[in-house]
Amino acid sequence: MSCTKGLIRFPKNNIMEIHNSEFRLYLKSPEQQDADAIAELANNYNVSKELHNTFPHPYTRADAISFIDFAAASLADGTGLHLAIRIKGEGEVIGMVGLRIFSRNRSAEIGYWLGEKYWSRGYGKEAIRLMLAYGFEKLKLNRIYAGVFSHNERSMHILEKLGFCREGVLREEELKDGKFVNTVYLSILKREYKEKLRIEVKEIR
Ligand SMILES: CC(C)(COP(=O)(O)OP(=O)(O)OC[C@H]1O[C@@H](n2cnc3c(N)ncnc32)[C@H](O)[C@@H]1OP(=O)(O)O)[C@@H](O)C(=O)NCCC(=O)NCCS
Repeated sequence: MSCTKGLIRFPKNNIMEIHNSEFRLYLKSPEQQDADAIAELANNYNVSKELHNTFPHPYTRADAISFIDFAAASLADGTGLHLAIRIKGEGEVIGMVGLRIFSRNRSAEIGYWLGEKYWSRGYGKEAIRLMLAYGFEKLKLNRIYAGVFSHNERSMHILEKLGFCREGVLREEELKDGKFVNTVYLSILKREYKEKLRIEVKEIR
C-alpha cells in the first residue's frame, strides 16, 4: 500500500528502487546495513571537496546513519528522494544520487557522488540519467537543476552532455576549506529532456 506526499507516492516500507533494463546500475533507498559502505566511500577528501559544506569531512559511520535516516524522513515527507547507486547483480552501494524536491513549483535540485574507485566508467552519467527519467516521467517535474563548484569541470561536462544549460554563477557562494568558491547553476527542463534523453524507467516499491 502507498500514499502520496507532495509529488512522491511513497511505499509504506519506505524503500524505493529505480531500474532501466539497459543500464548497468540501479538506484535503491539506502538502508542501515549500507552504513559501513557509505562511510568508507564518502570519507574521501576528493569526494567531499566537490560537495556542499553539509557533506561532512571526515565522514564517519554515524554520519552515514544520520544520512540514511534523513533519506527515509525526506521520502516520507515528500521533500526528497535520496537513493544509493548500486551495480546490478552486486547490490553494494557505489555512491548516491538525490533530488531535493520543491513540489509546488515542480522543481528539484539534483546532487550526486560516487566512491572514487568507481569514477570514469560512465556510472555517474548513468545514475544521473536514471534520476532525470524518474523525476520527469514519474514525478512529473518541470525543472531539475544543479549547483556545481566552478572548478568541477567533470561534473559540468556530464550535465552539459546530458542537455543541461548553464544559467549563471553565484559568486563566492560557499566558504570551502578556507576559500570562497563560485557555484555555477545549470538546469534542464522537461521539454528538453524529452527531446534528447528519454529512457524507460521502472519503479519497484
Ligand atoms: C562527478 C562524478 C559523479 C562523475 O562520475 P563518473 O562516473 O566519474 O563520470 P562519467 O564516467 O559518467 O563521466 C565523466 C565524463 O567527464 C569527462 N571528464 C573527466 N574529467 C574531466 C575534466 N577534468 N574536465 C572535463 N571533463 C572531464 C569524461 O571524459 C567523461 O565524459 P565523456 O563521457 O564525454 O567522455 C564523480 O566524479 C564524483 O563523484 N565526483 C566527486 C563528487 C562530485 O563532484 N559530485 C558532483 C557535485 S556537483
